[in-house]
Amino acid sequence: MNIEKIIKSKIIEKKRDMRLDYFLSSALYEDKGYYSNQNPIGGKNDFVTAPEISQMFGEIVGLYLYYIWRENINSKFNLIELGPGNGTLFKDISRSVSSYPDFLKNAKIKFIEINKKLIKIQKESLKKLSLNNINWSKQINYKTTRPSIIYSNEFFDCFPVRHFILKKHWYERYVSFNQIEKKLFFKNMHVKNKKLISFLNLYKKEKLLEISIQRNKYYEKICKFIKNRGGLFLTIDYGYFENIDNFTLQAIQNHKFSNVLEDIGKKDISSHVNFREFINIAKKYKLKIEEYCSQREFLIKYGILERKKTLSKSNINKKFNIELERLIGKDEMGDLFKCLIVSNL
Ligand SMILES: C[S@@+](CC[C@H](N)C(=O)[O-])C[C@H]1O[C@@H](n2cnc3c(N)ncnc32)[C@H](O)[C@@H]1O
Repeated sequence: MNIEKIIKSKIIEKKRDMRLDYFLSSALYEDKGYYSNQNPIGGKNDFVTAPEISQMFGEIVGLYLYYIWRENINSKFNLIELGPGNGTLFKDISRSVSSYPDFLKNAKIKFIEINKKLIKIQKESLKKLSLNNINWSKQINYKTTRPSIIYSNEFFDCFPVRHFILKKHWYERYVSFNQIEKKLFFKNMHVKNKKLISFLNLYKKEKLLEISIQRNKYYEKICKFIKNRGGLFLTIDYGYFENIDNFTLQAIQNHKFSNVLEDIGKKDISSHVNFREFINIAKKYKLKIEEYCSQREFLIKYGILERKKTLSKSNINKKFNIELERLIGKDEMGDLFKCLIVSNL
């Protein structure tokens, strides 16, 4: 049975609508869900990410991480990537630091990945690097006494969210099933739980609240991890700081926006990251906020314009101009994507 049928039959059997975050967890992460099996990334698949657009992205991230390591650690450490996709970001990082071999020699490399298909692709694509210090894990909770440099790109936008709407009362969005039309649809249910209402009232000014408890918990775990053992966490994602006017949940299939409730398990569903909450969590753990800026500002600050000039010299066609525009252009990824770096170094 495919994941769409599983979800529909759960709603029918339990005679209960499904909370949005449970629906998203099933659609994305259950055995037959999107992230457990499909390869979503790349021109021929559902969407492209910054590392897939241009080698310059990973090169700048790599040089930044190397600089942090050399200045603050300069000894054995963990290098951890969350959700490495096709392994392209790591490949570009390793190439950019190849003139500084001590960096990867001192690194115990860990990939945190849940998608079996992608793990295979990552293993295959990294074979050529002949590194024997890479391990895979589904979770970040393991024992270590070393400091860690952790990084991720487009990782947190995959986490399930809950939607709340404030009218006269608070309402929460559920997924329901129309037996006659055989279709899933959204249904807003009056929130009656007192504990939840008092939590929601903290956000009264917002009218619309999109919140991801799983995402915040995951991020908090990383903050704790680097607080206890020392380290830095760099994350780049679709995101915002101010209140939102609309829910950001979206489905993408074959590079096009599509309906979240159709073709479940066959399309990417994501939402923008609330960086204000991430910054507050980091502050709770007394971590230093090294950077919070747009992807454009991060890449320019750490040298992408200079890198582009060097690459353009060796390449007659203007491919690097186009790639640069996609990464830093204000109407492209440049402003939509944000970079947050927190540390305890
Ligand atoms: C949108 S893709 C980004 C891939 C890559 N970072 C890039 O920029 O091309 C998200 C990645 O995170 C993985 N992923 C999603 N949720 C995860 C989770 N909870 N734990 C581990 N990996 C996860 C996906 O399988 C995929 O590799």
